[in-house]
This record gives sequence, C-alpha cells and structure tokens, in this order.
Amino acid sequence: MKRSAFAFSTLLAAVSADATYRSRPDLSPLKLNITIPCGSSHGPCNEGYIFVSPFTTYGEPDDCVSHQAGPYILANTGDLVWSGFGYFAGWTCNLQAARFQGRDVLFSFEGVHNGNHGHGHGHHTLLSQHYDVIKTLRGGGNRISDKHEFIVVDEKSALIQIYHPTQRDLSPYGGKDGQTWIVDAKFQELDIATGKVLFEWSSLDHVSPDESALPLPRGLAGVGRGSSTAWDYFHINSLAKGADGHYLLSARHASTVYKINGTDGSIVWRLGGSNSTFAFGEGVQFGFQHHARFSAEDPDGQLDTISLFDNSVYGSESAGEGNQVRINPYSSGKYIQIDHVAKTATLVRKLEPVSVLGQAPGDAPIVTKSQGSLQSLPGGGDFVNWGSEGQITEYGADGKAVFHAFLGRGWLRERLQNYRAFRYNWTGISPEEPAVFAEGSSLSSDGIVHLFVSWNGDTVTKSWRFSWAEETVSEWGPTTVWKEKVVPRRGFETSTRVVRPAHVQVLSVRAEALDTDGHVLGVSAVASVQQAIAKTVVTAGHEDLRDQTPMS
Ligand SMILES: *[C@@H]1O[C@H](CO)[C@@H](O)[C@H](O)[C@H]1NC(C)=O
Ligand SMILES: *[C@@H]1O[C@H](CO)[C@@H](O)[C@H](O)[C@H]1NC(C)=O
Ligand SMILES: *[C@@H]1O[C@H](CO)[C@@H](O)[C@H](O)[C@H]1NC(C)=O
Ligand SMILES: *[C@@H]1O[C@H](CO)[C@@H](O)[C@H](O)[C@H]1NC(C)=O
Repeated sequence: MKRSAFAFSTLLAAVSADATYRSRPDLSPLKLNITIPCGSSHGPCNEGYIFVSPFTTYGEPDDCVSHQAGPYILANTGDLVWSGFGYFAGWTCNLQAARFQGRDVLFSFEGVHNGNHGHGHGHHTLLSQHYDVIKTLRGGGNRISDKHEFIVVDEKSALIQIYHPTQRDLSPYGGKDGQTWIVDAKFQELDIATGKVLFEWSSLDHVSPDESALPLPRGLAGVGRGSSTAWDYFHINSLAKGADGHYLLSARHASTVYKINGTDGSIVWRLGGSNSTFAFGEGVQFGFQHHARFSAEDPDGQLDTISLFDNSVYGSESAGEGNQVRINPYSSGKYIQIDHVAKTATLVRKLEPVSVLGQAPGDAPIVTKSQGSLQSLPGGGDFVNWGSEGQITEYGADGKAVFHAFLGRGWLRERLQNYRAFRYNWTGISPEEPAVFAEGSSLSSDGIVHLFVSWNGDTVTKSWRFSWAEETVSEWGPTTVWKEKVVPRRGFETSTRVVRPAHVQVLSVRAEALDTDGHVLGVSAVASVQQAIAKTVVTAGHEDLRDQTPMS
C-alpha cells in the first residue's frame, strides 16, 4: 500500500524507532537498526509491509529491556503497523499474509518453543483483516503440530509438519547403550475448514536414517536416549505443494530437498544429500537449508527452479564453533534450476550477504546457524531473512540490496533471532479503539498542549481529526468550546499541538480516524490532558518537528 507519510523514510528511520509511542506506553515493539534504508541510492523497495516475529532465547540482564516478543507488521522505516503482542499466547513465528476462501488472512504459529532442540509445539492461528481468530488448526489424529511450516494451498488446505518421537532399533546407525529414540518427521495436508487430514507422510516409511547429515554417534541432532532427546535425523523445515499435486520437502538434517509423490508418498527425486538425483554445477552445493519453494515449474516436466535459503552451517544457537558443521563459508539465498532429462542442477541466482556484495564493508559475511527464509517478490526481487543472526535484506531484481536491517539494536543486536520474514501487502482494520494521549504544561508556563493518537493494526486511516475542549474562565464563570483540527496520518502515531491562549485551559481531547473520503472509521475515548512530567519529546514524522518550531 502506498502511503505518502512513509516518504520521509530516512528521517523516521533515524528517530522514530527509538521513541516510545506516547499514546501506547504499554507497547514495546522491536527497534530496527536499518543500515540500508529503502529508497537510498541502491533503489526502491517493493511495496508492502515487513512481517517478522523476533525472539531471544537468552536470558537478559535487568538493564537490557528487550522488545515484547510476538508477531509484528512494520513499515519500511521500522515504524510499527501492528503489534501482535497480546493477540497470541506463548511463542510465535511464521507470521504471513495469505488468502483463505477468498479472504485476506494472517496466520501465525502459536505455542511453546524448545530452542535447544529447534522444535516447537502448538497450533496455527488464522486471523481475519480485523485481527479476529477465524480458525486454529492443530495436527490431525493425535499429532501435535511443530512450528516449522504452515502454508495455505489453493485457499483451502494447509501443510503442517510434525515432530514425532518413536522407538526403533538404532544399532545399524551406531546406536548403543539405550540409544533407541528417533524422530519420525511427518507432514500432513489438512482441510482448513474441517481440520480433516487429507494426506499424511512419515519420513521413516520412506527415508533411511542413513541419509542423515548428522549421524547418531555425533549426538548433534539428539542422543536418542529418550523421547525428548530423540535423534532428529531428518528434520522437515519446509513444505510446499506443486501444481502437479506432489510435494516439495526440505529436510535440514539430511541437507536434501525431496519431491514427494502426492499419491503414494514415494520419493520422486532428491536434490542434494548423499544420494542426489542431480549432479551439482558450480555453486549449487548447499546444506542445512530452509524454506524451499518452487520458483518455476515446467509443465513439460523438464526444468524446475527451486528457491531456498542455504544456511551452509549447522550448529545450535548455544554451540561453539567446535560443534559446527560447515558447507560454504557463509549463508546465501539460492535459485537452483534442475534439469530432469540431463539430471543436472544449476545455480541461476545467488543472494549474498551485504558485506560480500560490498554494500556493508565493515560487517563479516553472515553465517546463519539456524532458521532463515527466502521470499521471491513480484517483479524479480527477493526478501531474505538471516534467521539466527537477526537480520533481513531485500534485494532488487539486479541482486543488489535495497534494504538491510538488524532486528535489534545495541545489546539485542547479537541476540535477536527470527525464523522467517516476509514482505506482503496488507489491509488491516483495527479491532481496538484509537488510543489518544494529551499532555500540557500548567497555566503558568508555556501554552502548548501536545496531542497524540495511534490505532494498532490499522492501515486504512489517512488523517486524524483531533478535537479538544477549551475552557475560558471569565468574571461570568467558565465557558467551554470544542475546537478541531485535521492532521494527515504520519505513521503508527500521529501528533499535533494546540497553542492555547492565555487564561484558556484545554480540558479534554478526542481523535477520530478518517479515510480518504473523510468518513469516520473510528473514534477514541475522551482523554483528559495530563500534566507534562518533563519537556515533551515528540518523534520525527510528527507534525511538530517537521513544520513548527517550539515556542519559547
Ligand atoms: C506417483 O504415484 C502413483 C501411484 O503409485 C504413480 O501412478 C505415479 O506415476 C507417481 N508419480 C510420480 C511423478 O512418481
Ligand atoms: C538412491 O536413490 C535411488 C533413487 O531414489 C534409490 O533407488 C536408491 O535406493 C538410493 N540409494 C541409497 C543408498 O539410498
Ligand atoms: C547499527 O548497525 C551499525 C552497522 O553495523 C553499527 O555500527 C551500529 O553500532 C548499530 N547500532 C546500534 C544501536 O546497534
Ligand atoms: C503490493 O501491491 C503492489 C501493487 O499491486 C505490487 O506492485 C507489489 O508488488 C505488491 N507487493 C508484494 C510484496 O506483493
């Protein structure tokens, strides 16, 4: 969505992410550190908002205040569009926009997270454009859904993935001394409306534990002595369904992307791993990858292009270098074309860290030990999320970065992680009441009253009509008149100020959200004017800083 208020991108980026919204002191959103702003000399970003759900798995010192972990929709400046904090219980990831039964929806994973073993248990929640819950979807048939995948197929079904510990004789794979537990990585296609299981697949029925890139004796993927430490030999982290009805599956711990027959579950082909169907050309080699998607499918069946995020390194977030397995020196996004006749795989596009491109010379190339995503944007650009490293980059069609940000600042810069990130167009209608706040100094000092308003999740409001009650006390007693002023929307929070004449008190304030035609979309409660505690600091992008100088 185009919004003229966001044209002041660099100004906002520099200041507003540091500010607390005066109208919502209860919200503590993440603060991006934008190192390549949209619209800089490297070119424009695609339209739409940024979708992230950053978290930290580390304990935080008391004096380091983190953001409120949860799903967020942000503007390119880092300014908030929607804080999903409080909309979900527990840990969330994979916030995306999608279409379900002809409607625009949001979805997110919601549950608990086991950071040490890289899995999560819970359900997937679909929200309407009003941020109301349409549906929560759990795994079918006594299975608990894992966090890694939720993708809507044809606006009606969804693919989810399941982490299912089970016991087997693991002695053929080096198991001894009670090492008998292994994770059967499963996936299901579910009918969203009814929750019915349309298809279920089990890795142990089709893929030998021999294909694992993390053999049991090394213990890197679980020691297998109990259901909670089961050997996670396969680890599905993405699923997609092709136009031909077959599935594309990424197994991180086999360093392989599989095509799975949608009728009988057999393996159609393997890209990567110890038994690749395709011979790799220069630069194709990948490992511990995430987020494999069909980028182009050839109806004649000869050429397919797959996009994926190539981590190229394995290591739990807490493990030191000694516990890492590396394929390439740094992570990247890759588009790989596979030729089913020649049985070859060719690298057709590579998205490298900004430092490798020379666009951030001071920073080391990004090595993403876990998580990550690569979204193809309309028009040929890409949106890459550097998972455990808490960074996001947008690339233009020419492969140059047009946007780069760290999801955290200062202490949090090294500690915020984010499973996937996306750019989507989104129209949101807030279910909340617009939040208004007014602050002024007492009669004896300056005569300014600052007014602030915001409306969490709203993307429709174009301007705000502030109204306030002015009380004049004369020898005949007090008289009150309401005055009003329309101010263009500036971003998440819009502010203005009222300069009151001498002997006039501003008593109460209200704000109405207006659409492009001036229709009222929402009305705040009436708020009384608070006594300013300190000199009012307003954020950039607010009317005061841009077109007025403070009165002295
Ligand atoms: C998928 O499995 C069905 C049933 O076994 C078979 O008829 C079909 O040829 C298979 N398709 C592919 C692409 O392997
Ligand atoms: C390698 O893949 C082929 C084709 O899917 C399969 O027939 C064969 O059993 C596999 N070999 C091993 C050692 O897994
Ligand atoms: C933002 O990123 C830049 C470039 O890497 C870094 O020099 C700076 O310290 C970061 N700022 C904060 C507040 O973290
Ligand atoms: C958002 O919509 C605009 C206008 O249709 C389109 O150009 C742009 O590519 C869309 N952005 C995304 C991320 O889909």
